[in-house]
Amino acid sequence: MKKTQNQMLIIFGASGDLTARKLVPAIYNLYKGKHLPENFVVLGASRSAMTDEEFRQKVVQESEFLKDKISKEEKDYISAFAEKLFYEDLGDDYDSKYNGLAKRIKKLNEEKGCDHNYIFYLSTPPSLYEVIAKNLCEAGLTTEENGWKRIIVEKPFGYSLATAQELNAGLHKYFNEPQVYRIDHYLGKETVQNLLVTRFSNSLFEPTWNRRYIHHVEITNAETVGVEKRGGYYDKSGALRDMFQSHLLQVVSLIVMEPPINSSAEEIRDEKVKALKSLRIMTSDEELSKHTMKGQYVASTINGEKVKGYREEDGVDPDSKTETFAAVKFFVDNWRWKDVPFYVRTAKYMPTKVTEVVIHFKSPAHEVFKSQDAYKKDNKIIIRIQPDEGILIKFGVKVPGLGFHVEQANMDFYYSDLDSAEIMDAYERLLLDAMQGDATLYARADEVEAAWRFVDPILKYWQNEDVPTYGYAAGTWGPRNSDDMFEGHFGWRNPGKRLTDETGFCIL
Ligand code: BG6
Repeated sequence: MKKTQNQMLIIFGASGDLTARKLVPAIYNLYKGKHLPENFVVLGASRSAMTDEEFRQKVVQESEFLKDKISKEEKDYISAFAEKLFYEDLGDDYDSKYNGLAKRIKKLNEEKGCDHNYIFYLSTPPSLYEVIAKNLCEAGLTTEENGWKRIIVEKPFGYSLATAQELNAGLHKYFNEPQVYRIDHYLGKETVQNLLVTRFSNSLFEPTWNRRYIHHVEITNAETVGVEKRGGYYDKSGALRDMFQSHLLQVVSLIVMEPPINSSAEEIRDEKVKALKSLRIMTSDEELSKHTMKGQYVASTINGEKVKGYREEDGVDPDSKTETFAAVKFFVDNWRWKDVPFYVRTAKYMPTKVTEVVIHFKSPAHEVFKSQDAYKKDNKIIIRIQPDEGILIKFGVKVPGLGFHVEQANMDFYYSDLDSAEIMDAYERLLLDAMQGDATLYARADEVEAAWRFVDPILKYWQNEDVPTYGYAAGTWGPRNSDDMFEGHFGWRNPGKRLTDETGFCIL
């Protein structure tokens, strides 16, 4: 096991939702799992006036996100955890002098023995990244003379290629790239990491993982909720920026990439960048119109309950054309994937919460056992990222009896069957990696920019007034015509709640 050095985690925007909802519960899990170093301090910093004690009450003792976990524990055990947390009020804005903050960090570092190792976690709007980095630098907090310094930034990393490049350039004025950790919580999911292991630790799959055997690849990310309280943010973002550019292209890169030379962060990320750079960028309106589709949920009734349409949600423009459904078909310009179509869709308010990758194999070159709908019985590997995490392989078997009738059978593996399974929550895993200086599961500058380079033309095209935004009733599998994107007789696989559910029906 890697050693975690003594350190301090300084969270900017600590009075916000993410700190209470994700970060402190993740740190608590690390505490419980004995993964924290001997000397460890969390210093929350933001613009709200709070004492250390008030901060601890808010994010630990009275936190709705921790209550189930801490209710079973001894009071002293929880107090010992809470006492690792401190708070510093930054005053009116993030661009003021950081003298007070610097003094506090120095004092805590000396008192608690953090060995001058600091992680700055920016849980703030991206417009503040450079401002905070500059002020940290001016306050002498970024020098690595006597301890390492790292900075973690949250998504969205940019709004377009140009803004992502600006953000990168802004951060690089004060931090070197190896010090910058861009978080993408999908990379913290076990099943996403397992894509690498499935592919590169089995001789069974890799030889067929290419254009000779694969007919097409399909990725679905579906959520059963709408935009909830985030209408204001979402209306300016949309599904393509919110999910596709970041999380789903990360998944794509792991499916597309070539085997890395070894498992080091740079080797793996080099291959992912190469993969993202090989996605064919769509340029003509004709291609963009044929290969992309946007939709928006409209009011409907789910399980007898009326749900609002997107345009009626708080913070959303009543004439909004922002997509809550995005589907993209694309090709990968390299030797391995030439002519293999990839279909990726993401949407709010679908019938089931699911993220899965489906690798559809070609029909055998010569069909000995002919059947009319043989294509439906082609081999598939279904990789369930969430929920009911696992892998399902579909293959043909003989139907007992006369003749040679072929049916599909399932071979399945579930994570829940592993008894050693101590599955870390994504934030917990990613935080621990950053604390140990392992950037494998963080996005590098060139990776983020390559993803934006692919997405930018689609976003630009979608701004055209005449690009249709198709409505779909909340709780359904998206616009009716979304199957038209597929070549031949294929269409989207609409999965059920469980990995082995047969598809095409609706579970609410
Ligand atoms: C976030 C998006 O990054 O990911 C949300 O901003 C989305 O809109 C969420 O709901 C999905 O994450 P998960 O882990 O629930 O699939």
